[in-house]
Amino acid sequence: MMKSLIAIVGFGLLVAAAHQDVALKDLMPKGMVIGVAINQRQFEGTDSAAVDLITKQFNQISPENVLKFQPTQPAADRYTFDAADKYVQFGVDRHMQVVGHTLVWHSQTGAWVFEGADGKPADRDTLLLRMRDHIRTVVGRYKGKIHGWDVVNEAIDEDGSMRKSPWQVGIGDDYIAKAFEFAHDADPDAELYYNDFNLEKPAKRAGVIKLVQDLKARKLRIDGIGNQAHWRLDTPTIDEIDRTVVELHGTGLKVMYTELDINLLPNTPRGADPSVANPYANGLPDEIQQQLARRYADVFGVFLKHRDAVTRVTFWGLSDADSWLNRGRMNFPLLWDRQRQPKPAFNAVVDVLRNRK
Ligand code: G3I
Repeated sequence: MMKSLIAIVGFGLLVAAAHQDVALKDLMPKGMVIGVAINQRQFEGTDSAAVDLITKQFNQISPENVLKFQPTQPAADRYTFDAADKYVQFGVDRHMQVVGHTLVWHSQTGAWVFEGADGKPADRDTLLLRMRDHIRTVVGRYKGKIHGWDVVNEAIDEDGSMRKSPWQVGIGDDYIAKAFEFAHDADPDAELYYNDFNLEKPAKRAGVIKLVQDLKARKLRIDGIGNQAHWRLDTPTIDEIDRTVVELHGTGLKVMYTELDINLLPNTPRGADPSVANPYANGLPDEIQQQLARRYADVFGVFLKHRDAVTRVTFWGLSDADSWLNRGRMNFPLLWDRQRQPKPAFNAVVDVLRNRK
């Protein structure tokens, strides 16, 4: 009895250890890259443990913040590329696929962009000039180094209509077509993507599909739809994820999971009781850890099933310590823990990838 127990424990340790040596990038099917969104301490090299892990595990990177409008162009007459250059070089040095995120978004864009000279909102022509200048400058700088760009991010509302962002209000619905046109002019070889979340909701998905069909009807270049994949343990369901990838791929475009993470914390109002809002402050119960592992196995099962459609899977952050989902709480949404050790979810993903048919 004791002997077999030791054997089982020993085998378990062996499996865990074996998995530690495995690299996700070596297990992905042909034509599907695996990546991670990285932060400044990572691409500058100060977080060396993270750098080792990223280098070993992934063949694609996305910038969590550094290539957004505000950090790259904080003022009309000022571009700042020190950090962005380091991000791009990090990927180039490692022969990784480098993605750009994001050119046109309502968030992380300076208020000056939308202001006219007289304190009123900027008019259409001014906004289009600013958009073109920004896209030309940023995309042009990394021509040949950035493989693909999230050209427009989060432009569709939950009901499928156009989000009334300052870009849409100031320019009109065709601001999206213009952004794709400018991006293609700036780097004709770069892939161009539309990126959004909650695509498993039918109304929103229909709005996104209509939008990409409109871009295609205008003969504009668009290569892929980015499905952010900020998901939870139970939602969206595997069926919904499955249906969504089929419909998105029905447009003829590639599908990418661009910001994958699994949020384990409840949606609670500000000021909620900490025991409700932050239930895992003292650690994640094993039962939830196992549920997370099963969830990751299930979603990777869908990705593999649709390997004809899915060209990329990107985690939004490396380890639980790096995730935007903490925001003052303790969340556990990724494959590596706060000590950068692989979690059961990592092993589960490895198993699914190894056993793929
Ligand atoms: O840069 C300032 C820094 O100077 C300051 O000291 C610090 C103090 O809070 O704030 C820093 O800015 C923060 C920035 O992240 C960089 O760390 C912002 O406050 C914070 O709001 C910002 O959050 C980012 C968020 O986008 C902004 O909307 C998250 O890190 C980033 O993970 C998140 O990413 C988005 C995707 O771009 C689009 N899809 C959703 C996804 C998650 O929200």
